[in-house]
Amino acid sequence: MQKILFVCLGNICRSPLAEGIALHLVKKYNLNFTMDSAGTAHYHIGEAPDPRTIKNAKLHGIDLSTLIARHFTAADFSNFDIIFVMDKNNLKNIFDLASTPQQKNKVDLFLNTLYPNQNLEVPDPYHEDEKKFEEVFQLLNKACLNLLKIS
Ligand code: 4NP
Repeated sequence: MQKILFVCLGNICRSPLAEGIALHLVKKYNLNFTMDSAGTAHYHIGEAPDPRTIKNAKLHGIDLSTLIARHFTAADFSNFDIIFVMDKNNLKNIFDLASTPQQKNKVDLFLNTLYPNQNLEVPDPYHEDEKKFEEVFQLLNKACLNLLKIS
């Protein structure tokens, strides 16, 4: 069983959505993965995902209502096989917490799975409108389908 952690800044928009989409696909296709998500900032610890993220996911049949934001911890380096970050700031923050090259090797930008070596970021929708939340959904859905090899 491969254990995957998705990381963004607040753990209320991008990473819980990636977790929710991936979990939905894992259940639907009976795949052998576990998923979780975390944030590099502490602002929203203990909160549900952003209502706009919940609403957008629901439109696509994905329920995020049980997810609760948490902070990334150094223990996550041991608890997960792969740590996917949403943007370069998250990447820097997680790299700064890594204490061995093996830990750094577990971390990559999530969109590098879809567009190798391009170092593209999932845009932060927090200060944007509903269109941006839908754009983020489409991007994360595409990346999750690719990650889990579902065509
Ligand atoms: P996320 O989005 O990192 O995708 O969860 C954000 C959520 C909250 C904030 C910024 C980005 N904030 O500044 O509170």
